[in-house]
Amino acid sequence: MAFRRGYEAFLRTVRAGFRGAHGARCARPQILGANAAAAAVLTCQYSNQRTISSCEASAAGGSSSIIRFRVDSDRPGLLSEATEVLKKQQINIRDARISTEEASPRATHVYIVEDRGGGGLSDQRLAEVRAALQQLASGSCEAEPWPLFSSEEVSKHQTPESGIWVSYKDGVYDITSFVQNHPGGKDKIMLAAGKAIDPFWRIYQQHTGRGNALELLETMRIGDLSDPPKESSGACSCPYDSDPERHPGLIFHNNKPCNAELPSELMMDSWLTPNPVWFIRHHHPVPVVDPEEFRLCIE
Ligand code: HEM
Repeated sequence: MAFRRGYEAFLRTVRAGFRGAHGARCARPQILGANAAAAAVLTCQYSNQRTISSCEASAAGGSSSIIRFRVDSDRPGLLSEATEVLKKQQINIRDARISTEEASPRATHVYIVEDRGGGGLSDQRLAEVRAALQQLASGSCEAEPWPLFSSEEVSKHQTPESGIWVSYKDGVYDITSFVQNHPGGKDKIMLAAGKAIDPFWRIYQQHTGRGNALELLETMRIGDLSDPPKESSGACSCPYDSDPERHPGLIFHNNKPCNAELPSELMMDSWLTPNPVWFIRHHHPVPVVDPEEFRLCIE
């Protein structure tokens, strides 16, 4: 499948907000993680005089849903008609893509969407979307689940052969073809292969603070994480709870207490080893001290 040449231009239009046949705008799309709840997919096959197509609408149940609109014969105007349909359903489009097959008129329009009040679409709303898209053509529909993966499953994908997967919040992403093109280098991104990238991105905040890393990531989504990391409640239930967050790229030999060393991939980043990547050798929890109160007496 090759991305259509006009895709980038189209995406810019989508991100700026759609202006469809009736000139109205829909909300500016944002890229967010989808929810881990089980999802339903509605699939419909239909045809009319202009095109033969199929449509899948997957509900993530939480923060986003995915709609795949497959057409056997793409035609000018179909995209704006479909987006108008979604807009009339008061569905926010966070991301949109079109992929085509080489030497074929077939195309797949993919929309990552959220419901008007935020979140993924309920089964009822999916049915409404299906019915609305059927205004473009008529046909039959099927339901199937949206892929749900556990962290353990993600951890089995760390090589080009098995596919390189990562998770972020409650989403699962196949980054195999992106790894070579990562602006921060292949070595760095491979530190997170098969793992959650959340702790890495807490360190390398340029991914979330600016630029298009989140949007890029969303284009590689393949499913939802069934066991996403829990937000810390801040409650102190163990002596190690207040230990600082360590650089996730370190090689951990022990967590409580923390013993870790610097991997070679990070060694040459700086001649002066930055504090966060110094080797760590603890025997106890890190003491909690108030810098204002703390006094060191040397006798
Ligand atoms: C898996 C999905 C990832 C995506 C889609 C991604 C995407 C990007 C993008 C778009 C940039 C350029 C940012 C900018 O300058 O605006 C970037 C830079 C960078 N990334 Fe990633 N990244 C990913 C994972 C990681 C991981 C896991 C690490 C760390 C282990 C990492 C480390 C870096 C570093 C060090 C830079 C260079 C920052 C700089 O030179 O300013 N990235 N990444």
